[in-house]
Amino acid sequence: MAKIQKSGTIAALKFCNEKAFSLTDSMSVFHKAAIKRVTDKPRNSRNIANSKEKGYIEIFKENIESNKESEPIIVESAENIKFYYPIKTNSMCLQCHGKPTSDIKASTLAEINELYPKDLAIGYSENQIRGIWSITFNK
Ligand code: HEC
Repeated sequence: MAKIQKSGTIAALKFCNEKAFSLTDSMSVFHKAAIKRVTDKPRNSRNIANSKEKGYIEIFKENIESNKESEPIIVESAENIKFYYPIKTNSMCLQCHGKPTSDIKASTLAEINELYPKDLAIGYSENQIRGIWSITFNK
């Protein structure tokens, strides 16, 4: 968000392209946890949800449909604690994840397609499930 305000949408897009993984990786080291942002409709194919995560994404989508506030899902086993929490869209996200004809500027869309030829992460509106945080704390 800071990058959008300071340098505009395209600069922020490049920032996400280069920095998203090093940001989550550095948080992982800091919190001694494995931190992932995953989704059913990835922009970066490294962020595709596994089948369990896709199931939780469906639960969070159903919560929105029934106007229920989502609680984190926490699954504890002998080895670790897994934590899942929805990442929802707001109006700010739509300039890069919204509808190509109305929300995303042509120049931004061209840049997205150049960096991510297989992008699936468009067509969203506000208050939808863009993905989830999937965090594993080892015991
Ligand atoms: C300036 C453009 C831009 C904006 C605005 C933006 N994103 Fe993204 N988003 C990206 C890019 C680029 C990636 C791919 C990053 C990478 O390569 O790992 C991405 C990836 C993601 C991912 C990881 C899953 C995937 O599809 O690869 C999530 C989740 C996500 N964005 C959610 C959001 C949400 C929620 C908002 C609003 C709060 C938002 N984004 C706003 C550009 C943007």
